[in-house]
Formats: sequence, structure tokens, C-alpha cells
Amino acid sequence: MTKLFEAENVSVRFGGLQALDGLSLEVEEGTIIGLIGPNGSGKTTFFNTVTGLCRTVGGRVLIDGENITGLQPRHIYQRGVSRTFQRSRLCLSLSVFDNVVIGRQNSLDLTLFGNLFRRRRFVESVRENHEQVHALLSTFSEPLAARIFDPLHRLNMIDRRRIEVCRALIANPRLLLLDEPSAGMTPDETHEFMGDILKVRSDHPRMSIIIIEHEMDVIQRVADHVVVLNFGKKVAEGTFDAVVANPWVQEAYLGTS
Ligand SMILES: Nc1ncnc2c1ncn2[C@@H]1O[C@H](COP(=O)(O)OP(=O)(O)O)[C@@H](O)[C@H]1O
Ligand SMILES: [Mg+2]
Repeated sequence: MTKLFEAENVSVRFGGLQALDGLSLEVEEGTIIGLIGPNGSGKTTFFNTVTGLCRTVGGRVLIDGENITGLQPRHIYQRGVSRTFQRSRLCLSLSVFDNVVIGRQNSLDLTLFGNLFRRRRFVESVRENHEQVHALLSTFSEPLAARIFDPLHRLNMIDRRRIEVCRALIANPRLLLLDEPSAGMTPDETHEFMGDILKVRSDHPRMSIIIIEHEMDVIQRVADHVVVLNFGKKVAEGTFDAVVANPWVQEAYLGTS
């Protein structure tokens, strides 16, 4: 197994609050890591740190052995880290196509100069983007791909979540970070959506995924390896079976001890 990603002893503070406290975590190529822990345990802060939105006060983050700690978010993104957000950042009035293409930087030149003087290149880039977005949507569902120019507000919750994942995937990431993607979905929608995530993984066998998720049965189904956080520290780690056997997890998640 090849190591793709590594966090070494990462610490983040917000004033007096230690949001991440010496957290270390490794991700092998092609694996899905389930990241769990109570509200406020630092899961989103970890994603924000990996993607360059939070400053560390200690530790390092490496992708393919390259130290990316403290780089600008766009430089981290260019090195193959994409994410979705816990609170949706879709533009409901824009089309499906626009919402996915936003995920790619420098994709469309929409300036007046670009339109007037480089018309052919502009038309060409729209065509390429259209093909790619259509192909991505098709991996989720053909009916969704057929709605590429529908405004997003006409789509239901599960399709909107798929659009968020497509937006992250258009960058062709090596590490995909999913922050509570099942929030607000029914159990049936969650089940269907996790089937999509497993399909994304089989379509991109070298891509790794870290998924923050509260439902233990979802974690059991999708995660190859589980990491448990509490107060910014790793309190348990291993296979799903090993982690649920941990006394702390038993008490916090399963209500037994
Ligand atoms: N930008 C911020 N400024 C101050 N405190 C923050 C900020 N972001 C998160 N926190 C705090 O850090 C802790 C971890 O938050 P978060 O990473 O969002 O937890 P989780 O995603 O596990 O629910 C919480 O106590 C939260 O209130
Ligand atoms: Mg969170």
C-alpha cells in the first residue's frame, strides 16, 4: 500500500480553545477513512486545516510526501485535495452545469475581451466543460445528466449532494474530503448516496476519501478504516469492528459501557 496523505501531530487553537491537539492520521491510496466523533470534536477543523483554511500552531500535513502545511487553499487544491462542505455552498439560482464548473479554477474565460477576441477558444472550452460535467453526472445517474442546464433549486436533496461531489470531482482529486454529506437526507437517500460514493471509489481506484459521518451503519458500510476524535485528539482507530469494540466508543456511540 502506498501512503498518500499524512497529518503529523497537527494542533490548531482558536484563542483559548484547543480544537486539534496533536492529531496524527495516515491515509493509504485508494482507501476510505471514516472520521467520527461528537459535535465540536474537531472534525471540520481538521478538513479546514488540510485545505489551508485554518492555521496550525504545530505539526505538518503532507501529500505524497510533500509538506503542504500553510500553503494557500488554491495551491493545496492544485495538489489534489478537494472537499465538500458541511453546509452546502451551492448556488440555487444557477444551473447544475454552472455549479459543477465553479469547482474548476481558470476554466472559463468570461471577460468581454475573452469573448470578443478569443471566441473559438471560448466555445471550445465550453464544449470541453460540457462533456466533462455530463460524464461526471452520468456516473451518478443518467436522468441527472439530462438535467445539466436545470436550475439547481429544482433538484431534490440527494441530487444536490451529488452536484457537490461532482464539483469536487471535476478537479480530479487524489484526496476527497466529504463533510457530513448525509446531513438532511432520509435513511433511504443516505443509503442510495453511499452507494454512489462506493461507485466513485471504484471508478477512481487510486483516489482516497475521508468521510465525516455520524451514522455508524453508514461508516460500517463505506469505511475501510475508522478514526475517532474527541476534544481534538484521536481516541480510537482501526477497522470498524476494532473501533466499536473500544470502550470509549461503546459508551459515546452505543450507550453501553
Ligand atoms: N473559526 C472558529 N473560531 C473559533 N472556534 C471555532 C472555529 N471553528 C471551530 N471552532 C470550535 O472548534 C471546535 C471544533 O469545531 P469543529 O471542528 O467544527 O467540530 P466538529 O466538526 O467535530 O463538530 C468547536 O468547539 C468549535 O466551536
Ligand atoms: Mg463539523
